[in-house]
Amino acid sequence: MKEITQELLNSFRSPAFPGSYFLSFEGIEGAGKSTQIIRLKNHLEQKNFRVLVLREPGGTPFGEKMRQAILETKTEITPLAEAHLFASSRAQLLTEVVLKELAVPNTVIICDRYIDSSLVYQGHSRGLGIAEVLNIHNAFPLNLVPHLTFYLKINVDTSEKRQKMRNAPKDYFESKGVEFYKKLVVGYDTVAELFPNRILTLDAEVSLDSMTMTILDTVDKLLGQNKNTPQLEE
Ligand SMILES: Nc1ncnc2c1ncn2[C@@H]1O[C@H](COP(=O)(O)OP(=O)(O)OP(=O)(O)O)[C@@H](O)[C@H]1O
Ligand SMILES: [Mg+2]
Repeated sequence: MKEITQELLNSFRSPAFPGSYFLSFEGIEGAGKSTQIIRLKNHLEQKNFRVLVLREPGGTPFGEKMRQAILETKTEITPLAEAHLFASSRAQLLTEVVLKELAVPNTVIICDRYIDSSLVYQGHSRGLGIAEVLNIHNAFPLNLVPHLTFYLKINVDTSEKRQKMRNAPKDYFESKGVEFYKKLVVGYDTVAELFPNRILTLDAEVSLDSMTMTILDTVDKLLGQNKNTPQLEE
């Protein structure tokens, strides 16, 4: 298996566009990503930021076709093939959307899952290796990572409860197996340790509102730095 060197980790950088930010949310199913993203979007729009929420795979005509293909496939896709599929969709999304939109000042792009999902799902859980997945992304623009990633951490029992609560198909959780989810949690912890400056691990067992407060506070600090609202005319 390939090695994760500091040099490899250092090649991942956030895009530099004055006044614009790239954020992502990670965590296992039911962690609260989609719920918190909507709340953050509303909050930032009230502060006059342009906010774009993106999902992967998807977000471009090519990405959406790929999403359909992945969701509809009845045959097993190998971890290597899967990692490359997600990376292809991501490369297209970066060039077609992320880089163009971030060039417009006061834009915030929020991704519901991003590179860390590939590192965790294909790299760790499916056994391809985190280093292998990092290497797949080690070329511009795939080596661009968010300024800040929220890892909403819940345990497997909570994931199961929340999936039942929102009426997921009955066998959804069982079909993947508890072991699969346990492996994801270990994977997320491992990836969060690799990128301590970018990934903020938050205990997502707490109430929705208390989670939102922490997220809004953290984002306000990052975006506001010394001011609360963007100065459009500056
Ligand atoms: N902190 C929380 N406390 C209680 N319930 C929560 C909390 N966070 C999320 N939920 C509930 O859990 C369910 C799943 O939340 P949500 O869809 O936001 O998770 P997700 O991380 O986007 O999941 P997925 O990866 O499957 O898309 C929803 O019914 C939501 O209201
Ligand atoms: Mg979701």
